Amino acid sequence: MTVLLTVEDLTVVSTDAILRPTGLTLRAGRPLTILGQTGSGKSLLAQAIMGVLPDGLSAAGRVLLDGRDLLAMPMAERRALWGRTIGLLPQEPWLALDPTMRAGAQVAETHRLVAGLTAAEADAAARADLAHLGLADAFGKLPGELSGGMAQRVAFAAARAGRGRIVIADEPTKGLDADRRDDAVALLLREVEEGGGLLTITHDVAVARQLGGDVMVMREGEVVEQGPAEEVLRAPRSAYARDLLAAEPSSWPKLPPRPAGEPMLRARGLAKARGGKPLFDGLDLEIRAGEIVGVGGPSGCGKSTLGGLLLGLVAPDRGSVWRKPGIGRHRFQKLYQDPPAAFPPHGSLRQTLTDLVRLHRLDWSEVERLMDRLRLSPTLLDRRPREVSGGELQRLALLRVLLLDPVFLFADEPTSRLDLVTQQETVALLTGIARDRGCAVLLVSHDAGLLDRTADRRIALA
Ligand SMILES: Nc1ncnc2c1ncn2[C@@H]1O[C@H](COP(=O)(O)OP(=O)(O)OP(=O)(O)O)[C@@H](O)[C@H]1O
Ligand SMILES: [Mg+2]
Repeated sequence: MTVLLTVEDLTVVSTDAILRPTGLTLRAGRPLTILGQTGSGKSLLAQAIMGVLPDGLSAAGRVLLDGRDLLAMPMAERRALWGRTIGLLPQEPWLALDPTMRAGAQVAETHRLVAGLTAAEADAAARADLAHLGLADAFGKLPGELSGGMAQRVAFAAARAGRGRIVIADEPTKGLDADRRDDAVALLLREVEEGGGLLTITHDVAVARQLGGDVMVMREGEVVEQGPAEEVLRAPRSAYARDLLAAEPSSWPKLPPRPAGEPMLRARGLAKARGGKPLFDGLDLEIRAGEIVGVGGPSGCGKSTLGGLLLGLVAPDRGSVWRKPGIGRHRFQKLYQDPPAAFPPHGSLRQTLTDLVRLHRLDWSEVERLMDRLRLSPTLLDRRPREVSGGELQRLALLRVLLLDPVFLFADEPTSRLDLVTQQETVALLTGIARDRGCAVLLVSHDAGLLDRTADRRIALA
């Protein structure tokens, strides 16, 4: 099999080593998938290969493509490879998309600039790509008007429009429902069938299984196991890979039931349309203290909009929402689907949390206690939101809302960026808080197994 890319002894360092010397070989037609712990260096490995490491981080080692070492190449030459030879689909689609440019135009731009199509050809190609991804409606929309799963697919279309031989996809299926996930996997596999190279980073073992090829498992900046997907996923040799596979939600114990507390929030006859399309109509819902209600439904069906309605951030077309009176508004909380939305981008995380603690007269020791329970290192606080991993930021966003001692929490895919072990710990923390403090939780997830194990009952949006 033709070798497309070889990585040898690649390291990433800031003040200390983040990625220990790592090697990999990407072959034409054989997918390579990285599974592993949140914060273990997966995204930085991908960024180091691409040459897009954030300021303050540096890479050493060799990244060989067609006999040349990319790390030794002048930046201008490296840039010329972006899209044309190697395309990266970054972990946060919002960061990959320009918020002021319509979805269709963003995809068309790559067709035009990178693949060299004329404006009309690029436009037609972008329409076809989006239609192929089930996104024909998204063509004229701005990124802010797309659901998380839709933005993910638009970013994919934009990254792929350059037709590079090698695709690096960082968690391309997070937040997608099972059907959409299968579609995304099929798209990735199409690259491979056409003789391309595919490096995928994922927390979803089902995705790793579907992709096949080889698997690498990472933990704390190191590769702990690698081999054919079929072997590693069926009979892992390392203790960490075994723990990871054992933490699939379908093998969790079921959360014991709890007597329902008093109603905290009630919705009656809610109706809401977006872009002329009704999302729901006549929706009734009541949620009581300590109760965990699961919300499922396909990508784009209005789950996040429901959260906005329940918190009074979005006005319904019809119907009403009652929240238990006499409780501060800040104790009805929403956990954003995309973690970067929870933090101002420029301040340090410490600054944001200090401001919050001061504003609500909280105790800083609670920050430290939660950091410990969420296994977050205190050193993260001195960085900005973009300088921590996706899964670290997701847990910091959870910490931020838990600090406010919520009585109601709309948790939108709160573990979509976590490895299975960390996901299990984080869900246990969340359900523990629901039960111990009587917080009512509306838990949105595409993972039916997870909802089955954690939710007292479930509602499905069509
Ligand atoms: N700009 C930065 N400066 C310093 N450290 C950073 C920076 N960006 C990331 N890190 C740290 O490097 C480590 C690896 O980050 P990386 O984003 O590669 O993790 P990851 O394996 O992709 O995790 P996740 O699964 O959560 O996305 C993390 O501990 C993170 O906090
Ligand atoms: Mg990552």
